[in-house]
Amino acid sequence: MRKKLAAGNWKMNGLSASLTELETLKTAHPAPSVEVLICPPSTLITSAVVTAADHPLQIGGQDCHANEAGAHTGDISAAMIKDAGASYVLTGHSERRTDHNESDATIRAKTRAAHEAGLTAVVCIGETLEEREAANTLQIIAGQLAASLPDILAAENTVIAYEPVWAIGTGKVPTTNQIGEVHDFIRTKLEQRYGEGVGRSIRILYGGSVKASNADEIFAVSNVDGALVGGASLKASDFGPIVTALENA
Ligand code: 13P
Repeated sequence: MRKKLAAGNWKMNGLSASLTELETLKTAHPAPSVEVLICPPSTLITSAVVTAADHPLQIGGQDCHANEAGAHTGDISAAMIKDAGASYVLTGHSERRTDHNESDATIRAKTRAAHEAGLTAVVCIGETLEEREAANTLQIIAGQLAASLPDILAAENTVIAYEPVWAIGTGKVPTTNQIGEVHDFIRTKLEQRYGEGVGRSIRILYGGSVKASNADEIFAVSNVDGALVGGASLKASDFGPIVTALENA
């Protein structure tokens, strides 16, 4: 059984005062039946870990360097994120792929670094609008999966997040058929590459304009094991109902 995961990516949002949102989330969901993860900006990881200490809420980073340490001004390593008390890290988010020209090979190296540090990597993939309109979605997904994932991984340390680039922050959401097609495809690819046991146990999240109002129908789609939520994860009043929807799915 795959434990469902409601994950929030705060992106470059959040100051110390935002930690009250975690307090509110904890109060609203004292014992969630699904896993709940928040990835705040790196400046807040330590304090978020402290805030979450008496609760199952997990904290993650949004990116890590592929190396453990060294002369890389401004970067943080997976070991540092782990040392700060986090348990997850996102790799390959489309905003990193675009803003920082991250290649699949870079993302694979970062994912490997996350695993070596003892973190669970949430590896993000997804097609652009142009790629979807050219009917290349599955080909793009296959290529990103093949090149962004290491050959060796475990179901416990790897989560896939399918985030169509055109659905991120736009309010546009694929149809449930489109989501199901991609998630089923990812599941098949994972089983082919890692064997049925591991491939069937890796969680696959959907991300892109998830809100309380569309969460129920998205969570009912086959092979959707949760969500990676951007804008609607910033406020507990928006994210809490998404957690509830996943609990009820
Ligand atoms: P939105 O939920 O704001 O569309 O962002 C999705 C996302 O990029 C999460 O990583």
